[in-house]
Amino acid sequence: MPTRITISEAVRHEAETVEIAGWLYNIRKSGKIVFPLLRDGTGLMQCVAVKSALPEALFETIKNLTQESSIVVTGKIRADARAAGGFEMDVENLEVVQRVPESDPYPITPKEHGTEFLMDHRHLWLRSQRQHAIIRVRHAVIKAVRDYFDSHGFTLVDTPIFTPAACEGTTTLFEVNYFEDEKAYLTQSGQLYNEANAMAFGKVYCFGPTFRAEKSKTRRHLTEFWMVEPEMAYADLEEVKRVAEEMLLFITARVLETRREELKVLERDVAKLESVQSPFPRIGYDEAVKILQANGSEIQWGGDFGGTDETILTQQFDRPIMVDRFPSAIKAFYMAPDPDRPEVALGVDVLAPEGYGEIIGGGQRVHDPELLLRRIEEHQLPKEAFNWYLDLRKYGTVPHGGFGMGIERCVAWICGLEHIRETIAFPRMLYRLRP
Ligand code: 4AD
Ligand code: MG
Repeated sequence: MPTRITISEAVRHEAETVEIAGWLYNIRKSGKIVFPLLRDGTGLMQCVAVKSALPEALFETIKNLTQESSIVVTGKIRADARAAGGFEMDVENLEVVQRVPESDPYPITPKEHGTEFLMDHRHLWLRSQRQHAIIRVRHAVIKAVRDYFDSHGFTLVDTPIFTPAACEGTTTLFEVNYFEDEKAYLTQSGQLYNEANAMAFGKVYCFGPTFRAEKSKTRRHLTEFWMVEPEMAYADLEEVKRVAEEMLLFITARVLETRREELKVLERDVAKLESVQSPFPRIGYDEAVKILQANGSEIQWGGDFGGTDETILTQQFDRPIMVDRFPSAIKAFYMAPDPDRPEVALGVDVLAPEGYGEIIGGGQRVHDPELLLRRIEEHQLPKEAFNWYLDLRKYGTVPHGGFGMGIERCVAWICGLEHIRETIAFPRMLYRLRP
């Protein structure tokens, strides 16, 4: 019995007869030779089936294979510099597990399809090379994020998804029925619980799905996205910025190290990622507004950046930039005011270059109990739901801070994608809940 291997393992089996289980990606025919292109999830393998070397019925079966039929191929691995992965397989046998019928062929053909069609067939679209590359970069980003925090003294403490109150404003809450007339909300951010965890463990992070009922139909918004959020006790805004920069450097270096092939499939200009080096430019909101006005933006001091503003701003630099000290009025209730200028908040946004815009938001939190209570009232948040959060300021309060990074925004930037929808296997958006 030949050994069952994956395509990625072929390099260790040269000149051996092995078995690979997968699907027919494509097929090319030239008279007495047929070239089925096999995919197995780890790569592509060009197979070579020669008529004279195979029983006639088997050759006919191979010749008539249809796209995405499931097959198990046995053959000898041969090095070939011209082949995609550096190897080819000379077919000795092929077992058809399921043949896709001509009457109902695989809907995604090598021709161009519109985005809506592809999104409707997302469950199948994931099999294509480009989608494959994106999801593998995503995996590398997530692994890098975890490795970074795990090796820098952070404890993973996951936070709840059902929550009794808003964290990031009441306008983007998804409400769910939680037994006996009680309402719960899908979490917008793990931050508030993270703050409790930081007071227990010092440095923590949570990483999970978060939800925003965003009515915006932009290339940057999902209604369900994954966010990694570190939180640190005894940390100020400068420390938050330092960690954000170090983490991003770690991620980009890791992707460049382990996902070159995927970046090539995506035709990503890797020079743009290689220029992501320390230090990231740090500018204040005041200065950012001036840069924007000088470049034709309508923005006035006090206003929030629009998508176009972020694009203009990031096009001035070759690496991520950090913008801090936004007007408190446009930021969340928990943001600490700058003691020297209370009208601005000790918050920071990290904007990715090439027009990608905000990928990280964070900063220092209010740690004064009276001020926090006042903020909760001003924002008309239900005080009862925040009693536990106020406790954190009663029992050993300390300056602390952290940030949140949306994984999909980060992946869209690293992959150089036009739209965030391709960065997650099954995106959830304003007009997309299926498949
Ligand atoms: O800036 P945001 O709203 O900050 C927070 O939620 C803080 N509580 C995080 C913290 O300090 N612990 O969101 C953080 C990041 C954004 O920078 C962006 O990357 C991502 O989450 N994000 C979204 N990603 C995709 N779709 C959306 N609708 C997003 N909203 C935010
Ligand atoms: Mg933000």
